[in-house]
Amino acid sequence: MTTSSSERGVSLGMPELPAPAYPDDVRARLETDAREIIARYPDSRSALLPLLHLVQSEEGHVTRTGMQFCADVLNLTTAEVTAVATFYTMYRRKPSGDYQVGVCTNTLCAVMGGDAIFEELQEHLGVGNGETTDDGKVTLEHIECNAACDFAPVVMVNWEFFDNQTPATVKRLVDDLRAGRPVEPTRGAPLCTFKETARMLAGFPDERPGAVEASGSAGPASLVGLRLARGEAAPARVVHPRDGGPHDERQDRPVHQPSPTEHLSSHDAPQDTSASDPAHPAGPTAEEGE
Ligand code: FES
Repeated sequence: MTTSSSERGVSLGMPELPAPAYPDDVRARLETDAREIIARYPDSRSALLPLLHLVQSEEGHVTRTGMQFCADVLNLTTAEVTAVATFYTMYRRKPSGDYQVGVCTNTLCAVMGGDAIFEELQEHLGVGNGETTDDGKVTLEHIECNAACDFAPVVMVNWEFFDNQTPATVKRLVDDLRAGRPVEPTRGAPLCTFKETARMLAGFPDERPGAVEASGSAGPASLVGLRLARGEAAPARVVHPRDGGPHDERQDRPVHQPSPTEHLSSHDAPQDTSASDPAHPAGPTAEEGE
């Protein structure tokens, strides 16, 4: 006699039907939003990705109810919706915190301190990768490169950047988040909750005053290629020998220690630099749009 996968306690990652229904008022509201999203596409099934963000904005993760809703409004099977929802890591499959704290542990961030940040955060929060603190505030995650390598090591909270972090600044950051103290990303829009972020990712405008105007800029290290193309001299490459201060390789001598406002990149900046470290703010540079 054979046993089914459910009898063996094996999950195949497929939703078990029927999914519980949304309350009528929630379903009506989501249907209105879904119609607006679907109208943006010539083929309705192209709206699946934003619709998954929409249902994620309702419950904080993509539930079976959310997947059933997407299937209903797009005339897809739940298997088709599940295949997409489980493929992309931005869709969460279980209840998570208000703040998704993602530590970049790709190569550059890892060697610049990302691994140490992740390790210390696990201990500080008492949770592992993908786990949420007991108060429901913070979910800790490894994340992949966010194309901000010149600000390594980078931490993202609900996809907003916190640049040039250290274990100390990130521990302070999560403490502030858990205590409800205001936290400012290094650049970009002000922070909001994961559900609010998900609604924006579904394609609805950020209506907070000043949020759209807030923008990041390329860091000085990112602009070295532009300078060279213009015939300008590239700044000296600066390295930190283990036993001393910054060292100019070309001149073979110690270099001037720049202030936070004149630092060339995170590599020569003070380690204690982040928006959560008021002593070393790392704001936009003046070079963008030159
Ligand atoms: S390796 Fe971390 S942002 Fe690129």
